[in-house]
Amino acid sequence: MYKTLLTDLADNILTVMINRPDKLNALNKEVMSELGEVVEEIYTNKDIRSAIITGAGQRAFVAGADISEFLGLTSEQGRELSAKGSEIFFRIASSPKPIAAAVNGFALGGGCELAMACHFRLCVPTAKFGQPEAGLGLIPGYGGTQRLTQLVGRGRAIEIMLTGRMVEAIEAHTMGLVNYIVTEPDELLTKTRELLSVINEKAPLAIARVIECANIAAGDGLAYSSGHSTHSTHRHGGASSGGGRTTNKADASWEPDPFGGEARPDDNSSSLPSGLPGARADGSGMKNGFTREQQAFGECFATMDMQEGANAFLAKRKPHFTGH
Ligand code: COA
Repeated sequence: MYKTLLTDLADNILTVMINRPDKLNALNKEVMSELGEVVEEIYTNKDIRSAIITGAGQRAFVAGADISEFLGLTSEQGRELSAKGSEIFFRIASSPKPIAAAVNGFALGGGCELAMACHFRLCVPTAKFGQPEAGLGLIPGYGGTQRLTQLVGRGRAIEIMLTGRMVEAIEAHTMGLVNYIVTEPDELLTKTRELLSVINEKAPLAIARVIECANIAAGDGLAYSSGHSTHSTHRHGGASSGGGRTTNKADASWEPDPFGGEARPDDNSSSLPSGLPGARADGSGMKNGFTREQQAFGECFATMDMQEGANAFLAKRKPHFTGH
C-alpha cells in the first residue's frame, strides 16, 4: 500500500516504519506524502487505537529531511516545504489517538522534529538527537524551534540548535526529550507496544481530550490558528487542535469522532484562544487551556465510557471502554 513505509496493525496498534535505511530514512517528498496519508489512516481507521512511528534498520530513526531535495529551491518553495511538513507533523501532534516515537538511532533535523511531534518518545541507548540545520545554512522547518523549546526549555533548545551537536540518549532523557531509554535495542518496539497497550485500555474519548488540553498548554497548534493555510491536502484545525481553533466556522469544525462517539458541539469559541502569537506570552493561552479542560471534563460526563468507568470501579471489576 505504501512505497516508503512498512505498516503493521496488531492489537489495535499501528506500527509505521519509515523504510529508506540506505538513506538513513531521510524524509524525501514521497515519505512525507505517505506520512501524511498514514496519519489520516490513524485518524479514521476505527481498528487503530494508537500508533508507533519508527525507522527501518539499526542506524537511524530518521536522519532529517532529504538534503538532496533542497538545492535549487526558491525562498517561496522553501516556505511551502516547511508549511506542508509542519502541517503533517501538526496532525501527528494533534491526533486524538496516541502516537509514540520509537527512536531506534539517529533522530536528526526533521527526524528529531518528527519524534517531538509524537506524543511521547522511547529510544535505544545509542539514539542521538539533534537539530543540525544551522550547519547547513538552515533552521528547523517542521516545528522544531517550537517543540524543542517546549520540551527542553529555551536555553537548552537554543544551544542545541545553534551548536547542531548530537544529544545522546542519556542526556535526552535527563532533559525530558525522551520518556524512556529501552536498554535492549531489540525490545524497543515491544516496550513501546506494552506502553500503548496500557493506554489502549483507557477511555478513548478521555484520551483524546487529555492530548488536546496538553497541546493547548504546550502552545502546540497556535501556528495554525491565524487562518492562513498554505496547503491543501490535509485538513487542520481538528479535534485536538485546541489553541489552533479560529473563529472561522469552516476552519473551526471538529473532526468526525474517530471512535464513532457523540459529535462535539460547535462550542463556545469565544472563550478559547484567539490564536494570536502572543496568546501564551500574556498568559491567556494557559487561561484558555484551563477553560477548555473544564469544558472537556464536563463533556466526559456525557459519555457512556465515563459511566462504565465509574460503575466498573464501584463494582470492583475491569472497565470495558467502547469510545462512546
Ligand atoms: N538527506 C539525504 N541523505 C542523507 C541524509 C539526509 N538528511 N542523511 C543521510 N543521508 C544519506 C547519505 O547521503 C548517505 O547516502 P549515500 O550512501 O548514497 O552516500 C547515506 O544516507 C548514509 O549516510 P552517511 O552520511 O554515509 O552515514 P554516516 O554514518 O557517515 O553519517 C550522519 C551519519 C547521520 C551523521 C550523516 O548521515 C548526517 O549528518 N546526515 C545529515 C543529518 C542532517 O543534517 N539532518 C538535517 C537535514 S535538514
